[in-house]
Amino acid sequence: MKKYTLAMLLCGVLANAGGFSPSIQSYIATLKSEAKQANSSFVDFNAKRGEQIFTSKHIGKKGDSISCTSCHGNNLTKNGQNATTNKIIKPLAPSVNKSRLTDTKEVQKWLRRNFKDVYNREGTALEKGDVLYYIQSK
Ligand code: HEC
Repeated sequence: MKKYTLAMLLCGVLANAGGFSPSIQSYIATLKSEAKQANSSFVDFNAKRGEQIFTSKHIGKKGDSISCTSCHGNNLTKNGQNATTNKIIKPLAPSVNKSRLTDTKEVQKWLRRNFKDVYNREGTALEKGDVLYYIQSK
C-alpha cells in the first residue's frame, strides 16, 4: 500500500511538470525552488498568468511600447516576425515546433534577452516559470 501511494505521488509530480521535455524539467524545478524562496506561499506556475506576461505591453529597452507578441505574434503555432530586424521567427509552440523548450541554455539565454527587450529588466523566477507554462501549453 505504501509503495502504491508513493508511485501515485511520483506520477502526480511528473504530471505536474506539464509535459515539458526531460531536459527542461530540471530547469523548471530550479525556477520553482527560486520562486518558493522569494515567496513561501508559492505553489505552482500558471499558464494564465504567463499569457498576461506574454501579451501585455510595456515600455521596453528601447523606450517604445512592446510585448512578447510584437516578435512572436499572438498565435504561437504560427511564425512570428522580429519587430527589430523583420526576420521571420519560427513558431514558439512546442506542439508544432519540436525543437522549442528542449535546450535549457537556449531558453535561459532568450528569456534573459527578451525580458530585457520588453520589461527592461530580467524576469523573476515566477515570471519565467509562468511564461514557460504558457508557451508549453501551446
Ligand atoms: C525583439 C523581438 C523579440 C521579443 C520582443 C521577444 N522575443 Fe523571444 N525570441 C526572439 C528571437 C529572435 C529568438 C531566437 C530565435 C528563435 O529561437 O527562433 C527568441 C527566442 C525565444 C525563446 C526560445 C525558445 C526555444 O526553446 O527555442 C523563448 C522561450 C522566448 N523567445 C520567449 C520570449 C518571451 C517570454 C518574450 C517576452 C518577455 C519574448 N520572447 C519576446 C525575439 C523576441
